[in-house]
Order: sequence, then structure tokens, then C-alpha cells
Amino acid sequence: MSLKPYKRSRVAIVGMGAVGTTTGYTLLLRQRMSELVFIDVNVKKAKGEMLDMNHGLPFLGGVKVWAGDYEDCRDADIIIVTAGASQKPGETRIDLLKRNAEIFESIIDNIVKVNNHGILLIATNPVDILSYISWKRSGWPSSRVIGSGTLLDSARFRYLIGKEKGIDPRSIHAHIIGEHGDSELPVWSTANVAGTPLELGEETKNEIFENTKNAAYEIIDAKGATSYAIGLALDRIVAAILGDEGSVLNVSTLLEDYNGVSDVYLGVPSIVDHNGVREILDLPLNDEERARFIQSADKLKDQISKVHM
Ligand code: NAD
Ligand code: LAC
Repeated sequence: MSLKPYKRSRVAIVGMGAVGTTTGYTLLLRQRMSELVFIDVNVKKAKGEMLDMNHGLPFLGGVKVWAGDYEDCRDADIIIVTAGASQKPGETRIDLLKRNAEIFESIIDNIVKVNNHGILLIATNPVDILSYISWKRSGWPSSRVIGSGTLLDSARFRYLIGKEKGIDPRSIHAHIIGEHGDSELPVWSTANVAGTPLELGEETKNEIFENTKNAAYEIIDAKGATSYAIGLALDRIVAAILGDEGSVLNVSTLLEDYNGVSDVYLGVPSIVDHNGVREILDLPLNDEERARFIQSADKLKDQISKVHM
């Protein structure tokens, strides 16, 4: 009997706050990689999280976890960036742009100084614009600079539809696309369960979409931050990359001549494998959806034009 050959894989997380820590813990529980490194400007916090997780290794095994610095990104297959300011109650994601764009300059420079082969996976908000900035600043191909996009929003959407229909959300095929934020849109025209159209009234649909779009505001108001579902969403993207899955995920990626949109990062169904985004699916949109998608792109392009890059 031959054993599966051991393959080393390393994931680095920059930013060990609510999102980075939950993502690290999710990756650890699911044993996604052999090496996991935590980096934070708050070195003490990264060390504390690392120690706490290491003390669980006798129950898990398998993964080497340490707190490090940018030098540890050298051999990373994936660098997840969750560092920076988060929304306070009442703030939008776009309100974070100036603060986080400044932080990103040095973070991206520090990563690309030591790594030229990995995949950058951005979660910090506003995620679509920071993914675009990271792509520009890194000089890496856009296939290897990915934002978490509307994967989380699509999960919220599928959860709410599943709850309404009494069906497992994994069996609901429905997409939220566009900005991960206030201008996102639901693609009701293709939403289905196993190829069967969703029978939902207009009022219910509106309610489901509004609850999807406003979910983060509700959670931040209640507990200060969102973390579990985004941790699972980032874990899902890591699994697609390290497992070379070719899974379709609504990540944020560079669009060129896509449904009337160019030169902007937005969440759309994309095929993700060990190269990052291999291909973007040509999602058919009706006229109303296409107009809203273009509006979402225009909103972000206007914001990008105000950022010094
Ligand atoms: P947090 O305040 O809990 O953590 C932020 C961490 O970043 C802190 O530990 C801080 O020390 C660190 N940090 C700040 N500047 C840094 C730098 N220059 N280098 C390294 N580390 C640095 O915030 P959070 O709740 O974890 O949220 C982090 C980001 O993720 C926010 O922008 C938030 O809006 C975003 N977010 C995105 C999604 C998504 O779907 N994309 C979901 C949830 C949160
Ligand atoms: C979210 C973050 C805040 O949970 O962007 O949607």
C-alpha cells in the first residue's frame, strides 16, 4: 500500500483581528494546509492567537502554526489579507476606503518583495476596490489577485432563500453579483433549485434581498463584527485553490468587457483552481440586472478614481 505523497502548502494571514483569526481557526479545523502563519502589526495579538491555536494541536495535529513576519510570505501559496479598519455601526464599507488604501500600500509592497508566485486573497473592505488596488500595486496577473467578492453575500442569499423554501441552502443556486456592498444585486433571472425556477412572490424576493444586503449592518450593530461566515467563505476559496478544484465561486475579479463593464473588480461567478481565477462565467443577465450591474461598476470606478495609486 503506498501512502499519498506529502505535499507542503502554506497559507499566510495578514491581519489577525476578528476575520483573520476566525479564518485561521477554520482553516486549521479543516486541515487545509500544512503550514499556517499569522502576521499582524500587533505582534502580541498574532502571538496570542497562535499560542491558543497551537494548544489545540494535540486534538487536531497535522498543521504547523506560527506567528511570523512578511519574510514568512516567501513560501506561501496563498496570502490572505484581512488587515485594516472595519466598519463601526452606521459606517459603510466605502467609508473605510481612504484608511485601508493607505495601509494596503505597504502591506502589498512587503508581500511582493518576497513572493512572486502565490495568490493574494483579499478580504479587507471595501474589498473590490482594495483587490483592484492590490492587483495594480503587485504587478501580478489578475488571475492571482482575488477578492472574496460576493461569495459571502451569495451565501447569505442562499441561506435566506433556503430558509423560506425549507430547502438545504447548498441546493439553492442563486447569485449576488457586483459590489460586496450597497450596490450589489440579486440575479433572480437565473436563480433555481436543481434547474427548477424558484417560486417566490415579489414581496418575499425584495425582503430576502434587503436582508441579504443589510446582513452585515445588522450583525455589526449586534456584535461589533462579522467573522464566522466570512471565515468559511475564505476557507472555501482556499480549498478551491489548494485542491485545484475548478469550483465556481462568486469572487471579486478583474472584469474586461463583461456585461458592459471593464477595468474594475466585482463579484461574479468565476472558476477557481490552483492558478486562481481560471475563467469568468458568462452569466446571462436581463436588461434590468445588466443596468444595475453597470451602475455598481460605475460607483466603484468613481471611488477608484479618487484613490492615489
Ligand atoms: P479587526 O479590527 O478585528 O482586525 C483588523 C486587524 O488588522 C487588527 O488585528 C489590526 O492590528 C490589523 N492591522 C491593522 N493594520 C495593519 C497593518 N498595516 N498590517 C498588519 N495588520 C494590520 O477587523 P476585522 O473585523 O477582522 O475586519 C477586518 C477587515 O475585513 C475590515 O476591513 C472588514 O470590513 C473586512 N471584512 C470583510 C468581509 C468580506 O466579506 N470581505 C467580511 C467581514 C469583514
Ligand atoms: C460583511 C463584511 C462586513 O460581513 O463586509 O459583509
